[in-house]
Amino acid sequence: MKTTVSIIKADVGGYPGHCSVHPDIIAKANSLLKDAKKSGILTDFFVGRCGDDLELIMTHTKDCDNKEVHALAWDVFKKGTEIAKELKLYGAGQDLLSDAFSGNIRGMGPGIAEMEITERKSEPIVCFLMDKTDPGAFNLPIYRMFADPFSTAGLVIDPAMHDGFRFEVLDIYNHKRVFMNTPEETYDLLALIGGKSKYVVKRVYPKKGKLPEDEPAAVISTEKLSLIAGEYVGKDDPVAIVRAQSGLPALGEVLEPFSFPHLVSGWMRGSHVGPMLPVSMEDAMPTRFDGPPRVVALGFQLANGRLVGPVDLFKDIAFDHARRKSLKIAEYMRRHGPFEPHRLPSEDMEYTTLPKVLDKLKSRFEAVK
Ligand code: F6R
Ligand code: MG
Ligand code: MG
Repeated sequence: MKTTVSIIKADVGGYPGHCSVHPDIIAKANSLLKDAKKSGILTDFFVGRCGDDLELIMTHTKDCDNKEVHALAWDVFKKGTEIAKELKLYGAGQDLLSDAFSGNIRGMGPGIAEMEITERKSEPIVCFLMDKTDPGAFNLPIYRMFADPFSTAGLVIDPAMHDGFRFEVLDIYNHKRVFMNTPEETYDLLALIGGKSKYVVKRVYPKKGKLPEDEPAAVISTEKLSLIAGEYVGKDDPVAIVRAQSGLPALGEVLEPFSFPHLVSGWMRGSHVGPMLPVSMEDAMPTRFDGPPRVVALGFQLANGRLVGPVDLFKDIAFDHARRKSLKIAEYMRRHGPFEPHRLPSEDMEYTTLPKVLDKLKSRFEAVK
């Protein structure tokens, strides 16, 4: 029997501001998902949090995009929004862009990462949860995990990984996708995914043999709120599920890319470049300049759909150095104030509130002879 792992997440109201999720919302989500487990919709679940995002990590035996599971998540977000409204939390219902749920949560605001898998003899997975950034923030670490031999030793050492992996890359503006093989198409792949605001890695597959055909080793949520709503409505704080070990990157190879605090888009007003800060769930409270952007890694073993865990992986002191470095970079970037490259380049500001300010200045420009 197959197991489906679904992370469905939304910001249904922050506390205070865009900082955290109120415990009452987490308690409500836990109680609703517990009922769903009793009634057989879910096999297991874990309610997580990263910054102001409520993260529903669920397992079940239905397919991806299942109506019942999506309706359940939608119901949790709606009821969470009711609590947020009662407590006057900030941005209550922020990520629920529509009122009319019609069977699939896709395109309605929440972020979704799902994979239907045949559980291996032992199935370690890592659920990554990010806040104050966008889906392109996963491009670099996912590339490093599955294609960079300086990060993942198994690509060189393990014959089961030596063939490389296949990347599914989305052009999120034109709704197109392309599959690319590494190592042979590495340079072409990097030519695309280095442009992380347009091209985002959606899934990674092993090339052959290790997993039943068409089963991914990694999946990333790629929803862009601004492209759904047509204007700035908050960031698209992404999540990802990565399978580890036995011919896939080892747990430590899955985590290794985050020892480098790479620069991502997001942070204050979704308009700035800043370093990623790997933290425990407890420390996922973006405060300084509404950030810096955070990533949490929750590790589980799957046992016939049961989520054994989590282990809060970035709690490890081995990531202290990355954190110190990230905070130093944050300080350096902040000193640039409103100047690029701390502020996003103009083309990436299109879906922020800046165009409204620039519009007012348009009429004051005169021709220069
Ligand atoms: C970033 C984010 C925050 C808000 C900022 C302004 O993803 O959500 O940085 O953009 O706090 O929020 P408003 O305009 O709601 O006061
Ligand atoms: Mg928010
Ligand atoms: Mg958020």
